[in-house]
Amino acid sequence: MKTRLSVPVLILQAFFLTLVSALGPAIFLYVPVPANTASLRPLERNLVSLSIQARDFTTFAKTDLLKNFLGALSVNIRTHHTLRLGGAESDKTIYNPAGTITPEQYMNGNYGGSPQNVTIGPNYFAAIKGHYASSTKLIWTLNLRNVVNNWEAGISTAQGVLKYLGSQLEYFEIGNEADAYGLKGWRDQTWNVAEMALQWKWIAEQVQQFNQSVNFGAGAFANIPPNVIGNFDIPGVINAGIKGPNIPWYNMHLYPQSGCANAAVNLETLLRHDVLDNTLSGYIPQVAAAENAGAKFAMGETNSVSCSGRAGVSDTLASALWLVDYALLGASLGIRRAFFHTTPNGAYSAVIPKPYKQKTATYSGGFLPLAYGAYFVSEILSSENTLHVQPIQYGSDTDHSSYAIWDDKNNLKKLVFINLEMYNSSTGASNPAMPDSPVYPSTAARGSTRVFVATPWGLGEKLSLIRLQGPGSNAKSMVNVSDFTFSTEDGTVQSNVVDTILTVQADGFVIFDVNASEAVLIQHYSDVVANPHPTKSLSTPATTVVDGVTMITRGATSPPATSAGAGAPLISAIISIGLK
Ligand SMILES: *[C@@H]1O[C@H](CO)[C@@H](O)[C@H](O)[C@H]1NC(C)=O
Ligand SMILES: *[C@@H]1O[C@H](CO)[C@@H](O)[C@H](O)[C@H]1NC(C)=O
Ligand SMILES: *[C@@H]1O[C@H](CO)[C@@H](O)[C@H](O)[C@H]1NC(C)=O
Ligand SMILES: *[C@@H]1O[C@H](CO)[C@@H](O)[C@H](O)[C@H]1NC(C)=O
Ligand SMILES: *[C@@H]1O[C@H](CO)[C@@H](O)[C@H](O)[C@H]1NC(C)=O
Repeated sequence: MKTRLSVPVLILQAFFLTLVSALGPAIFLYVPVPANTASLRPLERNLVSLSIQARDFTTFAKTDLLKNFLGALSVNIRTHHTLRLGGAESDKTIYNPAGTITPEQYMNGNYGGSPQNVTIGPNYFAAIKGHYASSTKLIWTLNLRNVVNNWEAGISTAQGVLKYLGSQLEYFEIGNEADAYGLKGWRDQTWNVAEMALQWKWIAEQVQQFNQSVNFGAGAFANIPPNVIGNFDIPGVINAGIKGPNIPWYNMHLYPQSGCANAAVNLETLLRHDVLDNTLSGYIPQVAAAENAGAKFAMGETNSVSCSGRAGVSDTLASALWLVDYALLGASLGIRRAFFHTTPNGAYSAVIPKPYKQKTATYSGGFLPLAYGAYFVSEILSSENTLHVQPIQYGSDTDHSSYAIWDDKNNLKKLVFINLEMYNSSTGASNPAMPDSPVYPSTAARGSTRVFVATPWGLGEKLSLIRLQGPGSNAKSMVNVSDFTFSTEDGTVQSNVVDTILTVQADGFVIFDVNASEAVLIQHYSDVVANPHPTKSLSTPATTVVDGVTMITRGATSPPATSAGAGAPLISAIISIGLK
């Protein structure tokens, strides 16, 4: 199953392979300078965002976990977070400006008494106001399904959203997965994108009468590109006339595995880079259509497994690693943002806001590994510069994936390496926020890959290395980013990131080990120090040396003077000899 990676520096290959054969597999990567600018793609600061149903957002507003989680990510990405408030319930939502549901009732999951419809009113907005970082921007999905009184449900909801959340609105979507309306019997069997476009544009025109500068995102279709029906895709929606300066974004929804109706799902698929590559490459024509129309493409609602995820798959370290690979590979293909769908107790959620009951059991609130995947991406995005991404040539196979991150002056800023090899452990296999899943511990020792990257960086330069890590692919807890954890009580930082200090070796070589099911981020330590990062309040940085390796715990106060880490002394000695 494993394909050997190509090796650009053949002389070094012969030399190194004999050297490392006793230590385990080795991978050699070469980052050519300057970057091949034709394949560089910008990294949006909002690359990883969340999608939450508007009705569920009030449940998240009951505690500070989501608010503090988003706050931490915002420190790294240096800007507000964007939340998409939408999902299947959007097409059941009606607005009642005189509604009497109290803010507390909304927060306790009361949506107007009718199981068919969600009724929101002014108190809905009161229930969420102030319960998330105030700079957060919102995308709101309007009801396209309900045709009563010429789409009064969607149009009046828009009026309420503009009145109470106006300054925070980034844009409206109109209809959730409208490509499925025909199958669901909400429209007739001939339902197609041209028919939809007439209704969509009518609603948009009414909404623009409330505020001419309101923007819209179009698409939000469920079917993946090979299965498109009725021309419900981005080229289709643009051909139907949904385009223009008020439409800066197009999007599609993606759940690579279906969890509905007890379909078979598995963890292996999440750990296959080739599967991800095949899936995301299918969106290249969608991206091109959006960009040709002067807009950008996003994955508007996505996650590992549909129908709220699957315990044992979506709530594992494997899923967090998948998120990182998805975000970076997607960005490399022009998918500018991905909105990971999150529900108050779904296995695919990053944040479980509060305790809940399911069947006879009670589960706690807290964080699932996906939150650490999202946090790791925010560390990748942390920079004062606009960053660009590109996969490292020959740097991926079934089990591995690697990316080079550049600034806008074509300086190599960061390296990301993901080892997707599976390793199951009985340690950390449960999480009090989730039902238990069967555990199949691996019998072989955990794999580890030694990675040699030839970079343009200078001999002796000090680098930071951080890891998205956990006890195994199946881990539901004990997952962290180099010790960084969120408090399950309130979502504040519980323990700070610990940077491992590496030193650039002769000829720009950077050498590190990556365990099976682990991702690594490398950048100059001076950049880490220059960038703001979330920490425990009042914490001070601390340096320790473990087995000759320098580790520096980040603190809220200024960093200490650092000493160079010893790196991998044996290897570095041999490299410098070997290159003479
Ligand atoms: C509830 O939603 C359905 C579907 O959109 C709609 O047909 C119905 O009129 C709604 N009920 C009310 C009271 O608005
Ligand atoms: C109109 O919409 C724009 C863009 O969303 C927003 O910046 C502005 O505040 C809105 N104006 C009013 C009066 O709500
Ligand atoms: C972070 O994860 C590693 C690997 O699972 C573990 O050894 C370490 O104790 C964890 N750190 C924290 C602070 O949880
Ligand atoms: C690891 O565990 C997952 C379920 O968590 C299972 O699907 C997979 O087959 C296991 N792998 C091995 C090698 O046992
Ligand atoms: C994972 O990697 C770290 C750092 O290279 C190493 O110390 C640790 O022993 C590894 N863990 C396992 C289980 O292989």
